[in-house]
Amino acid sequence: MSKLGDKIKEIRTSNNLTLQEFADSLGYTSKSTITKIEKGNNDITFSQMIKLSQIYSIDLNELADNKIINVDLLKYSLPNLEFREINKDNFYNVCMLDVNSEDKEFVASNEMSLTKTYLFKTIGTYVLPIAIYRNRVPIGFIMITKGYIGDNIKGEYINNYCILRMMIEAKHQNKGLGKLALKQLIEIIKSISINESFIWISTEEKNSKAIHIYEDNGFKKTNDYCGEEIILKYDLSK
Ligand SMILES: CC(C)(COP(=O)(O)OP(=O)(O)OC[C@H]1O[C@@H](n2cnc3c(N)ncnc32)[C@H](O)[C@@H]1OP(=O)(O)O)[C@@H](O)C(=O)NCCC(=O)NCCS
Repeated sequence: MSKLGDKIKEIRTSNNLTLQEFADSLGYTSKSTITKIEKGNNDITFSQMIKLSQIYSIDLNELADNKIINVDLLKYSLPNLEFREINKDNFYNVCMLDVNSEDKEFVASNEMSLTKTYLFKTIGTYVLPIAIYRNRVPIGFIMITKGYIGDNIKGEYINNYCILRMMIEAKHQNKGLGKLALKQLIEIIKSISINESFIWISTEEKNSKAIHIYEDNGFKKTNDYCGEEIILKYDLSK
């Protein structure tokens, strides 16, 4: 049995539900799907996990075995480029990081992005905001999500990690830090991936610099769009 399978069985039995009743509550037609999930032979999608956590009031992170939140950011830090969580000590400085005026149309302010983390948490969307430091000074911001982020995104994108935000403060750009941060970020996402098949990112097609660093790090353009933005994917199966 898998750990997740064990947990799901525990939720079902503690609610005194039969396999069929439990299957019905989650919208599965057959009870055999639940048997397979409990035995660890079938995967449960992230959106089903969200549903399950909401119906049975289970913390989503607990359900996912804390695998998706316990990111040891320090492990992925380099001498000149450190990843740190956002906390009371750096929140204000991260909010103050800004891009050039001509780049503002490409990325929301960090203040707005951090506000969105609150919203995402209320709807069960996984979110990990990260501050990028250089020589102990915050110089950039990245935000990873997984789950519902808006109506214009299809199912497969909801079940895979998204790099929803990425910015390097204007005065620190063009020094190779964005590329390096992205490379390390891919390693972080790989380390927390369970059944995901890709990482995705979207950007305005005219944002040639961002597209350059994404493609340079192995992302490929798709024919899909998130609103007006083209989606690029990084294949995790390689
Ligand atoms: C996109 C961004 C994160 C890149 O970070 P950065 O630290 O400036 O990037 P780097 O210095 O690591 O790399 C820049 C690369 O782009 C190339 N580049 C610079 N200007 C470019 C342009 N106009 N078009 C294409 N490539 C460009 C550089 O030559 C370099 O590539 P190389 O190392 O292969 O020569 C940063 O510029 C930024 O914050 N931009 C504003 C916000 C934004 O657009 N975020 C992405 C939203 S999807």
